Amino acid sequence: MRIGVYPGTFDPITRGHTDIVARSLQLFDRLIVAVAPNPRKEPLLPINDRVELAQIATKNFAHVEVEAFNGLLVEYVHSRGAHGIIRGLRALSDFEHEFQMALLNRKIAGQLETVFLMPSEEYSYLTSSIVKELAMFGGPLEDFVCPEVAQRLRQWYDGSKS
Ligand code: COA
Repeated sequence: MRIGVYPGTFDPITRGHTDIVARSLQLFDRLIVAVAPNPRKEPLLPINDRVELAQIATKNFAHVEVEAFNGLLVEYVHSRGAHGIIRGLRALSDFEHEFQMALLNRKIAGQLETVFLMPSEEYSYLTSSIVKELAMFGGPLEDFVCPEVAQRLRQWYDGSKS
């Protein structure tokens, strides 16, 4: 049983992320979508909402679970008995940051490998920040996130206006 961990801030989970989930399941028997608090990024959505939305967005995949994690990623991966880290690589601009994280994780965890997967080209420009900006200005969201995520973002911004 090969277990992969797909970590991220998921603020919120997008169709690009779920595209990576689908691809990961071709390589791993089970996948854990691991949601980081990541206060450094000052996420919009509280961690419980990000976990809940990731659960909703991945509900049609078998062998996927979603949970929050704290602390070092490599320690979390070991604690779950997982075999590898998955990261999506969209553009050259992602590379430097991803390269640094993967090498650092390998340095501190020995054998642990990071697998990079490319999302479908239709999501190659997508980020959670772009989705939030669209939501803030009332733009269309359904092509980029699942309907439940779109609804939650609209509610969030409508609430913050009133
Ligand atoms: N489709 C769409 N968007 C994607 C994507 C895909 N396939 N893959 C990545 N992204 C986007 C994300 O939406 C996000 O966009 P944003 O910046 O607009 O929010 C961005 O690319 C990358 O963010 P994220 O996936 O959250 O990664 P990160 O660089 O913030 O790192 C962790 C998050 C959790 C992996 C990292 O902080 C971590 O490991 N934390 C634990 C502490 C630790 O161990 N630190 C040492 C590690 S070096």
